Amino acid sequence: MKKLWGGRFTASAEEWVDEFGASISFDQELVLEDIQGSIAHATMLAKCGILTAEEASTIVTGLKTLKEKAEKKELEFSTKYEDIHLNLEHLLTELVGPVGGKLHTARSRNDQVATDMHLYLREQVKQTGILINEFQSVLLKKAEEHVETIMPGYTHLQRAQPISFGHHLMAYFWMLERDKQRFLSALERINISPLGAGALAGTTFPIDREYSAELLGFEGIYQNSLDAVSDRDFILEFMSASSIMMMHLSRFAEEIILWSSQEFRFIELDDTFATGSSIMPQKKNPDMAELIRGKTGRVYGGLMSLLTILKGLPLAYNKDMQEDKEGMFDTVKTVQGSLKIFAGMVESMTVNKDNMESSVTKDFSNATELADYLAAKGMPFREAHEVVGKLVLHCIQKGCYLADLSFNEFKQSSSLFEEDIYDALNPYNAVVRRNSAGGTGFSEVNAQIKKGKLLIEAD
Ligand code: ARG
Repeated sequence: MKKLWGGRFTASAEEWVDEFGASISFDQELVLEDIQGSIAHATMLAKCGILTAEEASTIVTGLKTLKEKAEKKELEFSTKYEDIHLNLEHLLTELVGPVGGKLHTARSRNDQVATDMHLYLREQVKQTGILINEFQSVLLKKAEEHVETIMPGYTHLQRAQPISFGHHLMAYFWMLERDKQRFLSALERINISPLGAGALAGTTFPIDREYSAELLGFEGIYQNSLDAVSDRDFILEFMSASSIMMMHLSRFAEEIILWSSQEFRFIELDDTFATGSSIMPQKKNPDMAELIRGKTGRVYGGLMSLLTILKGLPLAYNKDMQEDKEGMFDTVKTVQGSLKIFAGMVESMTVNKDNMESSVTKDFSNATELADYLAAKGMPFREAHEVVGKLVLHCIQKGCYLADLSFNEFKQSSSLFEEDIYDALNPYNAVVRRNSAGGTGFSEVNAQIKKGKLLIEAD
């Protein structure tokens, strides 16, 4: 078959080699963006007098027909035409005749593919923002239901201090809020136009890059043609933001897995988000949470892969850059899928309030309360820490918890203890009183939820 660049070549192409170089199997994902970019380019060429109005109109009509067919999945692509750009040019020329060949005036596949990816990611990033928002709304709702649900808070995965379950959920809300901001801030750099940079050096044709950028809804244009065709930072930023977000989801997934274990029994997942075992009838496995934790590795892999692909590339375009796409598509799919699943999983899970609450009555997570109690009565905190440490040891030796000690036992260790010590030891009180800004006290958690709601409504 004669190639588009056949003029320069003597030997004919070999199919198996072409197949290795082809990207159509995956870059057909960009079909609509490619058509959108081409319509803007043809319109701009006509405005600048590079194409006649009639030529441009024939081309644009042809492109619109291709678009309709693409939407109905009726276009047939072939590895013979390597990638989405050449496939579409071929289909267009078949449809409108040789005038189709004029579309590529003052353009190269290098600025074309970059334009497609900017258009694609702009939409996907917005979509990701919407999905984050939906997940945040689920968290807000659950948090609101569980402001007064007491659970053990952990450090080193050791019981530390009792906290509100709503507070714990809100921690993830704020992580996701930062994630969303990272995606939205990447939009500033995604939403600029490389179109018209040509292969690398610009063009001699009197084009209007600002105009085609405007037609495509871009905020501005790349200032340097070499940079325009070589830059993949905008994909890296998307992948970095995705990696950080997946790290958050993975930590949350890990907690979901722990909480639904027999050891914790803090939550029960809805059957939809769990699976059974093919051999052990009693099992209910938190597969979806595990998968999200696993897929986090895949998203990191995509980021590392693209960083590595780009690191040694001289300016400007190099074919290596064709390797930028599969990871990007995969990350979009993984991140969006994980967000949807996570939201559904949290929304439908059952919280075993009683289990959470009873676990904080059978531990020493109220020991800080006791130390704070003495410190509030004037004892230096270090000393109070020591007194309480001894009481804890005394309990361990006796086989009981702090609240089980008699008032006499308290009095013996410090005369500052009064009858109200038992109130201070109650985990509910320990939580309710932690009202420093951002603390787990109920009024503070409610304040967070209120702020969170305002943020979600604003988006
Ligand atoms: N399929 C190519 C890619 O995705 C399009 C750009 C090709 N440009 C070139 N000069 N070979 O990178």
